[in-house]
Amino acid sequence: MRDVDFHSFVAADYEAIRGALLRLRAPGQRFLEWGSATGVIALMADAMGFESYGIELDASLVRTARDLATQFGSGARFVAGSFIPTGYVRPAGTEDSETTGDGPSGYLQLGMALGDFDIVFVYAWDGDAPLMHDLMRRYGRPDALLLLNDHDAGLRGYRGGREVSIVRS
Ligand SMILES: C[S@@+](CC[C@H](N)C(=O)[O-])C[C@H]1O[C@@H](n2cnc3c(N)ncnc32)[C@H](O)[C@@H]1O
Repeated sequence: MRDVDFHSFVAADYEAIRGALLRLRAPGQRFLEWGSATGVIALMADAMGFESYGIELDASLVRTARDLATQFGSGARFVAGSFIPTGYVRPAGTEDSETTGDGPSGYLQLGMALGDFDIVFVYAWDGDAPLMHDLMRRYGRPDALLLLNDHDAGLRGYRGGREVSIVRS
């Protein structure tokens, strides 16, 4: 029997996200990746002209993301912490998971609040989507776009809790 300790990080559908961000980019847009891991998506957003940030619970992944940002001359900024704001009470029936872990909030380090972002991206386990919508409803700007990549449904966009097309019409 193999005894291998591996990180539970699972990457999102980078190609679908790249396409969506290319369609959504506009001057001055602020992008935030919740659970940014090695920072690939936030780096991609920076390269497309977004003002780009990532919050990640795992400090070793944040170090990797910062190293990549330096290596590629990216302006994306990464902080170690939770994307869940201080004081947030999880809705009844939701528990922490690999994509919604507990830790000190990262917004103070960013010097920004969730309401300061135009687009928030997250790759969440399917059962975590209600928590993501609840966070946006409570703390996000009403016109902000939540780009939610869930395991089964793929990449979808939501504004004010309603699904919106992220495909060019
Ligand atoms: C499924 S991975 C997604 C990584 C990356 N966003 C992507 O799409 O390729 C989820 C990441 O969220 C991080 N994470 C889990 N709970 C978090 C929290 N409350 N705040 C910040 N990061 C969190 C995990 O450490 C992990 O790196």
